[in-house]
Amino acid sequence: MCVLLGCFLSLSVVAYSDYPREVGPQMAPQARRGLEVWRTNNCQACHQIHGFGGFHGPDLTNRLTDDVHDAELIQVIMTGRGRMPAFELPDEDLDALMAWLRSINASGRAQPEPLRAESAPVASMHFKELISQAEGRALVTIPGPAREGLELWTTMQCGTCHLPFQAGLLREPDLTARATDRSFENLSQILAEGRGRMPATPLDDSQVRSLEVFLQWVADHRSTLAEFNLEFTQHQPFRWSDLPWWEYK
Ligand code: HEC
Ligand code: HEC
Repeated sequence: MCVLLGCFLSLSVVAYSDYPREVGPQMAPQARRGLEVWRTNNCQACHQIHGFGGFHGPDLTNRLTDDVHDAELIQVIMTGRGRMPAFELPDEDLDALMAWLRSINASGRAQPEPLRAESAPVASMHFKELISQAEGRALVTIPGPAREGLELWTTMQCGTCHLPFQAGLLREPDLTARATDRSFENLSQILAEGRGRMPATPLDDSQVRSLEVFLQWVADHRSTLAEFNLEFTQHQPFRWSDLPWWEYK
């Protein structure tokens, strides 16, 4: 019993003692007043801030960003919309609410966004972006004739079916693989006639030559580019421990 009591007491001391905490930025007086308005009108019964609150209306943590005008939100509050009731508030309360929503927006993100999710390469541009970034890092330099082939590859949208360093969604072959026949004869025949699900794409001889040079150049630098492609396409490693506790949903 004594041991249990001891545990309980020491745990209480640890829990309630003021161990070093990060001191957040002080809320401006107007924002603090906005918080009072928020509380007295029970906005949190329907809205969440950082995921906490009622679920009748949307989370408002990051609603008032720099590119949003106060008037837009004030109008909803004053006139109501859908299931949102109208609130008759004096101007200074509305301004205080806006100041508060702005300061809450600055306090972090309500919903963590997957990193780089929006910047996945478009298939037809994939090689072009990959190679230009690899050049930026001085991993490779692409000579003129191969660059012409790369331009053609991009404009003819070969990349929508043939993915870099892997088979396509419908098993379109990886044209940089060792087994591929990249000879001028083979390329011009396939492009002229099409094959299987690959449509015919008639090009003149010099265009076929530059595609051939491009594909050969990629094949010659395959290991460097394929390795860089992993880094290029992979999302940054995501660590849950980087999130403040209230960002868990
Ligand atoms: C009864 C529930 C309820 C209460 C209480 C409530 N809201 Fe709402 N609110 C909603 C709903 C539901 C919506 C979504 C309306 C729609 O678009 O259909 C909304 C929308 C909003 C919007 C617009 C959001 C957007 O993305 O355009 C703002 C701003 C807002 N509320 C602020 C407030 C404030 C400030 C208070 C307190 C004074 C408050 N609300 C109280 C339910 C509520
Ligand atoms: C609509 C999707 C699609 C597009 C666009 C496309 N291909 Fe293909 N390609 C395929 C498919 C599917 C095959 C496999 C054909 C088969 O063998 O059945 C293929 C095969 C090839 C082959 C033969 C590969 C080998 O292993 O011998 C070459 C070379 C080729 N494509 C080059 C190109 C080039 C260059 C472009 C751009 C001008 C291009 N493809 C555009 C779908 C496509």
